Formats: sequence, structure tokens, C-alpha cells
Amino acid sequence: MPWYKGLFRRSRMTTTLTIFSTMCCIIGLVLLCNYTSFPVNLPYGSHPSSITSQCRPKTNIMFLKVHKAGSSTVFNVLGRFVINNKLNMAIPYKKKHTARYNYLGNSSFLTKDMVLPLPEGQRYNMFLNHVVYNRTFFDMILPRDTFYLAIVRNPEERFSSAAKYFGLVHRLSTFSKTPFVFEQFLKDPNKFGNTDLVHNQMAHDFGIPKTQYNNQSFVEEYIQKLDREFNLVLLLDYFDESLIMLRRKLCWSLKDVLYLKQNSASKPKKKIVLTESDRNRLEEFQFADVMIYNHFQTRFWKDLNSFEIDIHYETNHFKDVRRRMESFCSSYIQSKDKFITIAKSLWNSAFNITIFDCNILNMKELPMLDKITANLIQTLNT
Ligand SMILES: *[C@@H]1O[C@H](CO)[C@@H](O)[C@H](O)[C@H]1NC(C)=O
Ligand SMILES: *[C@@H]1O[C@H](CO)[C@@H](O)[C@H](O)[C@H]1NC(C)=O
Ligand SMILES: *[C@@H]1O[C@H](CO)[C@@H](O)[C@H](O)[C@H]1NC(C)=O
Ligand SMILES: *[C@@H]1O[C@H](CO)[C@@H](O)[C@H](O)[C@H]1NC(C)=O
Repeated sequence: MPWYKGLFRRSRMTTTLTIFSTMCCIIGLVLLCNYTSFPVNLPYGSHPSSITSQCRPKTNIMFLKVHKAGSSTVFNVLGRFVINNKLNMAIPYKKKHTARYNYLGNSSFLTKDMVLPLPEGQRYNMFLNHVVYNRTFFDMILPRDTFYLAIVRNPEERFSSAAKYFGLVHRLSTFSKTPFVFEQFLKDPNKFGNTDLVHNQMAHDFGIPKTQYNNQSFVEEYIQKLDREFNLVLLLDYFDESLIMLRRKLCWSLKDVLYLKQNSASKPKKKIVLTESDRNRLEEFQFADVMIYNHFQTRFWKDLNSFEIDIHYETNHFKDVRRRMESFCSSYIQSKDKFITIAKSLWNSAFNITIFDCNILNMKELPMLDKITANLIQTLNT
């Protein structure tokens, strides 16, 4: 007779008691384990999230710069870290200011000699430029402990933003005087020539071939692979939460992840409306992007909730620091102050924001790439 059969022979009272005491035992053990896993030297009232100062900052990062998803702003955050900490970035080996010199290439044609070489014995720390993702290639050039990071954006918003940025809205507006600018386009996108820049471009950047955009089983399998390979995928739609999560995972300081918005599309002069049927057609048109977004959105919230200390308090604090930084950085020319001091908090030690910081925070992607390239070439020549 199996051991558990006996359980059901006992009276209901005994069974309840047994279950109750077993549960007490388990809860007690869990509490004890949790308690002992806290560092013993925490001062009274200290917040476990402020322990991050005990971890070691990660310096090896591959950032997949997904188009029109806030990635220029993330580029500034990571590039600033490269500059401030004198790290090595893997830079596309292209002539400065030639077409797409910030784009490494398509996944099927990536080789080691496509990035600027380093001085003997040194290693690359980061890759931050546009590329079509290919893990095999990045395993060849980046260290084994590299942190893989990407960003995604709500596909409908990304589509509208890309359509504005790459001129599609302008083209469509010439023959649509209504706010329903995308109606004709979405009914038959093939009539409008090459649509690559607005068609599943997140999927493209992640390396999904065009021929598989509508192949559900391919896209599903591919997303599983991405899920294993990327340590963190940010959401532009929750950008501040994203940066706080990034800060905690990389063990960086609050100052490291401050930002000013970069390369965002200007507000349209004309009101654009998507009807319900436009939306349905768009969802079909962007099948792979919608799948990617839905997957990583779910994972984002799961990751966010897995922190033992709520991320929202820190995010609010971050927004406040950011506002103060923005107001200082936009007015320091008139003011006589050379810096502002951000006081110590649960999440940061006291730090200054100087005019020098403002200048780097304000740097656009290409000038920053040029500066990092110049620094590297200088070390190559010395
Ligand atoms: C990825 O890069 C490797 C190495 O360059 C290459 O052999 C492979 O074919 C590429 N994969 C894809 C899917 O393009
Ligand atoms: C890379 O370029 C080749 C040739 O132009 C093309 O066939 C392939 O689909 C591209 N790969 C991706 C992932 O876009
Ligand atoms: C769709 O994806 C599956 C799984 O990767 C693959 O076996 C199949 O050949 C693909 N279909 C087409 C038409 O490419
Ligand atoms: C901020 O800068 C001032 C002036 O250089 C300096 O006295 C102060 O110690 C700095 N504060 C911090 C927190 O670094």
C-alpha cells in the first residue's frame, strides 16, 4: 500500500493538524532562510536595494540598437559609460561620415575585420551600433560574460514613428487630405514600393529573415532563442522603469543612467488617426513585430516584479533627479552655477552634475560615436 493512503484513513481533525503544522514548518524555514540571506551588517532601516553598491559594475555589453525604439537615447547612456570609464567599444570599420557608418551590417555577412582593431592584448567591452543581430558573430568578438541588451516598442507606435521619420507620412499625405493617412497604404502596402523601413523592422533587427515574417512557428522558435540569449529587453513605453531595471542589473549608479531624449520624431503638424480596420491590418502587416513585443512585454513585467524591492519608488526618485538635471542642463549658460548636487538617497550616494556632464548628456549619437572613435584611434597611435 502506498504511504499516502494512510493519510486518508485518519480523522479530518488529525489531517488538518498535520497539514497545518507542516505548513508552519515550511513557512518558518522560508522566513529563516530569507532572514539569514540578508547581509548581517545592514544598518537599521536600510533598504536591501541600496546594497547594490556591494556588487561589481558590469562593463561588457552588447546592445541591439533596434530602430525607432528609443535606442539613440540608450546609446547615449552606454556610450557615456564607455567614455567615462575609458572602455573599448567595437566600432564599425568605416570611413567617418560616409553613408551608414554607424551600421555594422547584415547578420549573414559579419566578420571580425568589420570592426576597428584594438591595441595588442586588449578586449572589446561593448558593441552599440546598428546591426542585424547574429549571436555567433558577437560570441567571436565579445567576452563570454557579455550582457545582452535590447529595446522594443509598442509596434503601432513604432510604425507611426518610423513612418514619420522615414518620410512615409509625408508621401501619403500628398494624396490623403483626411486624418486617415495610413488607410490606403495598409490595404495594400506592396503598391508603395520598398516598405522595409516600416515593415517588421524590430524582427529584422533581431535577425529574422524577411521570408519568415509571417511564419508563426519560425517566429515562435526564434523568440525562444532570443529569450535565452538576451539578459534584458527594455520597453520604450516604460523607459524610466527600464533604465532603473538596467541600473540594478548592471550594478551601475543612478547618475550613469540619466538621459536626455535623443532623436525622437517631432510632433506631427497633422492629426493622424488609425481606424479599427487600419489597426487590424497593421497587426497583420507587423505580425513578427507584434509577437516579439508581446513576448518581451510579458517578460519585462515578470522581471520587474521579481525584484524584492519595488522598483516604482526608485523610478519616481529617478524622474525627479532627471527633471532637476534637465533644468540645470538647459539653463547653465545663463546661471552662474557650475554644478548641482544631488543629495544621497536610498538609491544613490551624493553626486554632482557638472557642465561637463551636461555636454555629454546632450551629445547626439554620431558626434558621440566620432568622439569614441577618436579616443580609440588615439590609443592605437600611441
Ligand atoms: C552569423 O555569422 C556567422 C559567422 O560570421 C555566419 O557563419 C552565419 O552564417 C551567420 N548567420 C546568419 C543567420 O546569417
Ligand atoms: C541579409 O542580406 C541578404 C542579401 O541582401 C538577404 O538575403 C537577407 O535576407 C538579409 N538578412 C536579414 C536578416 O535581413
Ligand atoms: C516555417 O518555420 C518552420 C519552423 O522553423 C520551418 O520548418 C518551415 O520550413 C517554415 N516554412 C516556410 C514556408 O519557410
Ligand atoms: C561637488 O563639487 C564641489 C565643488 O567641486 C565639491 O566641493 C563637492 O565635494 C562635490 N560633491 C560631491 C558629492 O561630489
